[in-house]
Amino acid sequence: MKLPSLRRVPLPTSSSPSLAQSLHIWARNASNESALLRASLSLGLFQALPREPTSAPLSVEALAHQLGASVRGTRALLELLLCMGLVRMDDARGYTLSSSIAALLDDAGFHARLQAERPWWHPMGRLDEALQQGGPVVEDADSWDVLGHYRELFLDPTKVSTSAEAEDFFDRFARGAARTQLLITVGRLGVLDALASGPQSLTRLGETTKLSVEGLRVVLEVMATLGLVREEAGVWDLTADARPLLEGKALAYLVRALSVSSRYWEALGRLDETVRTEHFILDLKDPETSRRFYADNSQQITAVFATHFQLGRKAVETLAQVRPLERAQVLDIGTGSGVWGAAFARATPTTQVTYFDQDVVLEQVRTNLERLKVAERARFWPGDLLTHDFGEQAFDVIVLPQVLNVLRPESLPGLFARVSRALKPDGVLLIAEYVLNERRDGPLEHLYFGLRRFMTNEGDLLSASEYAHLLKDVGLTASVCLPLPTQELILATRSGVPLPSRLAA
Ligand SMILES: C[S@@+](CC[C@H](N)C(=O)[O-])C[C@H]1O[C@@H](n2cnc3c(N)ncnc32)[C@H](O)[C@@H]1O
Repeated sequence: MKLPSLRRVPLPTSSSPSLAQSLHIWARNASNESALLRASLSLGLFQALPREPTSAPLSVEALAHQLGASVRGTRALLELLLCMGLVRMDDARGYTLSSSIAALLDDAGFHARLQAERPWWHPMGRLDEALQQGGPVVEDADSWDVLGHYRELFLDPTKVSTSAEAEDFFDRFARGAARTQLLITVGRLGVLDALASGPQSLTRLGETTKLSVEGLRVVLEVMATLGLVREEAGVWDLTADARPLLEGKALAYLVRALSVSSRYWEALGRLDETVRTEHFILDLKDPETSRRFYADNSQQITAVFATHFQLGRKAVETLAQVRPLERAQVLDIGTGSGVWGAAFARATPTTQVTYFDQDVVLEQVRTNLERLKVAERARFWPGDLLTHDFGEQAFDVIVLPQVLNVLRPESLPGLFARVSRALKPDGVLLIAEYVLNERRDGPLEHLYFGLRRFMTNEGDLLSASEYAHLLKDVGLTASVCLPLPTQELILATRSGVPLPSRLAA
């Protein structure tokens, strides 16, 4: 049995990344990581995994069966644990627990410390109330001293683990999510805005934000441990490193990212339940939840329009290397803000683009298209992509940008069949997606994104060969996967039709 070498993903606090990188992790993935570790512990996944190197590895299916849990959910946890280096996988996709993690979790004292941390997730989600009241919050008829818990986690020098590895694990398990929630809260309650406006005393900050001074003191002291603020002679100010990250556009961007993270908090806290039973706490397949989420999400997508427009343009230029786009009929399915279709519309003055999405989402697309002066060539097509008939041999290019990951895996073959039918004989399908590597153990950001898709009753992320396999089944026998800066581009077509072999320069 050949085991891959151990790869550790550096902790924000352990390998001195820049403050900007740390802030990025705290705002997004830190709470995902804590939820992953908590769910793995409470489901008994760590205990069920065979210990390397003595026990024989187990498949995802065998482990899911042993836990009485969903295979997809168990896989979503395992692939992340593998990427983090806590779990190993052999060539037959059998999993074992790393011996050092096994030893750590066998320590009864450490295990008890982790268990004691678990119930704090939901009370921590009410840090805003604790700050407003300056005291404990009531959850399930119990009183939870959330501010006291923050003090214990971050400010109590006596609470240190026995080894660097234990400290590292505990930090990811407990403090990661606590950092995300703290940032969500100070963003939402205007503390970051107030600090950006200039140095001030605690009393003045309390007056501006209408929050408890005692609560603010704890929060600021925790923020000081993160290198975000500092105190001098009773006056609190952003640190020189933090100021450019917490002002103006950078602050607005961060607060938006935090607001997205906050929408997953409840579901992350109950991840074990979802992995066990596929009961989805934030169920985006529920029409009402989906309408609300995506109506809100399209504003988020609009906010990152410029970045995605650049990706779209790169894809257009890449395709234009092998086929002209004059008079091309393009269909953008799951268009969101319209950004990918708009990139095609801007390719030539004669390219015609059809924008397909739920009607509530399409309402916001026109403004973006007008701004780019391509609205007059736009056709809007509202519908449900799970059942819609896109026609026969109607389009030169069909784009599926960032949409497959929201679909349950069983709906992909049917969608691909309808898309293939709607493509002209020499038509090209263009998929922009987070494509996993062939071992399905990275990239890390993609895996966290995939975990959230599972949690919300949406799709699975696939590798390039998994996509190629599905596309071959509907006659799109040729495909290439090209890396864009933050995601991947898959181009697929019928045999004999040229495809680009590299991204446009
Ligand atoms: C993650 S967004 C991607 C938006 C855009 N393509 C982009 O790359 O920015 C997924 C889009 O798929 C749409 N969508 C999801 N399920 C759908 C369905 N059943 N029918 C139509 N549109 C759907 C959503 O409304 C949303 O706009």
